[in-house]
Amino acid sequence: MKILFYDTKPYDRESFDALAKKYPELEIEYLATDISENTVRLAKGYDAVCVFVASDVSGKIVRALSKRGVRLILLRCAGFNNVDLKACEEENITVMRVPDYSPEAIAEHALALSFAVNRHIHKAYIKVRENNFSLMGLTGVNFFGKTAGIIGTGRIGAAMCRACHGIGMKVIAYDKFPNSALGFVEYTDLDTVLRNSDLISLHCPLTRETYHMIDLEAIEKMKDGVLLVNTSRGALISTRDLIKGIRMHKFSGVGLDVYEEEQENVFENREDDILNTSVTARLLSFPNVIVTSHQGFLTTEALEAIAMVTLENAKGFENGSPEKANIVRV
Ligand code: NAI
Repeated sequence: MKILFYDTKPYDRESFDALAKKYPELEIEYLATDISENTVRLAKGYDAVCVFVASDVSGKIVRALSKRGVRLILLRCAGFNNVDLKACEEENITVMRVPDYSPEAIAEHALALSFAVNRHIHKAYIKVRENNFSLMGLTGVNFFGKTAGIIGTGRIGAAMCRACHGIGMKVIAYDKFPNSALGFVEYTDLDTVLRNSDLISLHCPLTRETYHMIDLEAIEKMKDGVLLVNTSRGALISTRDLIKGIRMHKFSGVGLDVYEEEQENVFENREDDILNTSVTARLLSFPNVIVTSHQGFLTTEALEAIAMVTLENAKGFENGSPEKANIVRV
């Protein structure tokens, strides 16, 4: 099986190359460029393409892949909201993902953002480098004894619940399907989580139902001085309303690993670009906001797991026995 990898960085190649020799039946070619209307033609002659979280796998791209004989799309990530699944079904292209690589990697990043923005580590780091040892503006709060509100308690949300519980927080949560393994978590409705939490962390997938679940109405319900963290998908939060909320002084801090309009930025060095929109710049203009660029997954353990499951997905498909749980359907 010949697989064309799009949008690869050195750390991707490293983790896949380390395992590739165990899969002699798979022939891998890496491209740095992402899949697009211009680069999709490079997939001619390949059985599969492997793409990542920000890759454009819209209907047009899917049809172009099908025309070139591609039968399998390997997502080396968990989320699949960037894929037109209906088009894949129509073109008889199988889509496989890595549903569960290292939930702790993302949960720990959510926690890192929470700690950093609460204790102003982003400001303190710069200040000390400038020989400014003043503590003005650096006061945070103790998390111990406070309430964490976790929205979505699947694999990552559950890891976040455990982490928050571990630092002495009371954990309340909202999920359509409560996780009975989390005995220490108090499940409640979304409104109660919004109204009672000191830290709110989002861990549900982006669906039609969850799109903009954090809008102005939701923000107004939150406690004054709440800390909001999103490591899930940008469009769970209406950025326009978030900016209004920040200007209303609603938040003590906001930590975003994902945000709307991140697509063009994600994993690119754009330091010499004049950006077309001002969303990122506006978010970055607030002293109590930390933005990272979709790096929640970026740990050695997660990269290894992603490589292993992706190569197993390819092998299983090739052998006619794909892991059913990893196939994404409409
Ligand atoms: P999961 O499928 O294990 O858990 C999602 C949970 O959300 C489930 O328990 C589900 O019942 C719940 N849910 C679904 N719809 C809901 C709704 N309307 N209201 C409340 N809860 C709802 O998914 P997992 O692995 O925990 O991932 C969560 C999200 O994290 C992914 O969808 C992805 O968008 C994001 N992610 C971000 C990464 C990053 O690098 N920042 C890396 C990997 C995933």
